[in-house]
Amino acid sequence: MRAIAVSEFGATPSIMDVGWPEPGPGEVLIKLVAAGMNPFDWKFAAGDFGDMIPAGFPLILGQDGAGVVESVGDGVERFRPGDQVYGSFFGAARGLGSYCEFTLSPQDGQIAMMPQKLVYSQAAAVPMASMTAFNLVDEAGVDEGKTVLVVGATGGVGQQAVQFAALKGAHVIATAGPDMADRMGEFGADETLDYHEVDVADAVLEEHPDGVDVLLDMVNDKRKVDLLSESVKKGGVVASTIGAADVEGLKKRGIKGINFQNRASGELLTTISEMIDTGRLTVHLTREVDLTDVPDVIADAKRGGARGKTVIRV
Ligand SMILES: NC(=O)c1ccc[n+]([C@@H]2O[C@H](COP(=O)([O-])OP(=O)(O)OC[C@H]3O[C@@H](n4cnc5c(N)ncnc54)[C@H](OP(=O)(O)O)[C@@H]3O)[C@@H](O)[C@H]2O)c1
Repeated sequence: MRAIAVSEFGATPSIMDVGWPEPGPGEVLIKLVAAGMNPFDWKFAAGDFGDMIPAGFPLILGQDGAGVVESVGDGVERFRPGDQVYGSFFGAARGLGSYCEFTLSPQDGQIAMMPQKLVYSQAAAVPMASMTAFNLVDEAGVDEGKTVLVVGATGGVGQQAVQFAALKGAHVIATAGPDMADRMGEFGADETLDYHEVDVADAVLEEHPDGVDVLLDMVNDKRKVDLLSESVKKGGVVASTIGAADVEGLKKRGIKGINFQNRASGELLTTISEMIDTGRLTVHLTREVDLTDVPDVIADAKRGGARGKTVIRV
């Protein structure tokens, strides 16, 4: 089957012909129709996580995908051939991913029935970003009446975090330029700040002199998160999705620091499907590309400027 893969960590991803996976006991074989792209995919292939996560080579990139159950292994009861499913299919130890035609998932892995409202390309954009945002908002204690600053709000995780925070009844401030400000409003943001034009911490403190309750940061390094945390009130929370919260330093200032690690599951994905089908959660697809375009798309994505999600037609 065709796949985007690397022969070793750090190699440039390219299109390869690799063998089909076979479902073992308890496993589901999925014929993918679309794969969703996430920054983790190329960071992992670049070797950014070192030996922390075992990998087999050639290593197929990607996790997120949507498609049809092709066949199931012994003992699988939750899914059957023909089911339309989506999920986060991380199989790096066996070289498996989602930028390919077929992948495997344990039946009790991060797999669920697809939201009925979505087509495959939309569904493939959901799993990692939505599950991350859902858990992040929850772990940071975002709730009704709290003021939340979302930095990186225009990205895959950010767009979902804005929606989950607004659904909780929080007052949401999102970083976004003029091209995305209206969309942030549709997602439930109460204010937007263009980080290209203003100093975000200063602008927040101008409108909210006591500071915000929660900062959710998806993009900044330790130094910048530290500067932004000046806009968080004592007793508040600073959460980073990229390990940039100085937990001890924040503690000294009476702020809880969180270096967030996602905990994904099929149950959470089922909850997200329900939220999408009842119109509470929206997915914004930026573009659809072909498998052959992926090496160039990754090079572009590394330069920044993501606006929601890119999905691969498999
Ligand atoms: N810890 C975990 O479990 C976990 C889970 C999922 C994701 N992550 C990580 O979380 C990060 C975000 O993921 P993602 O999928 O949302 O990435 P993404 O889609 O690439 O989004 C990043 C967004 O941030 C914007 N941005 C860049 N610099 C900014 C700044 N200084 N201030 C405000 N906005 C800025 C970018 O737009 P412009 O460049 O146009 O400004 C882009 O829209 C990634 O590093 C990913 O690896 C971690």
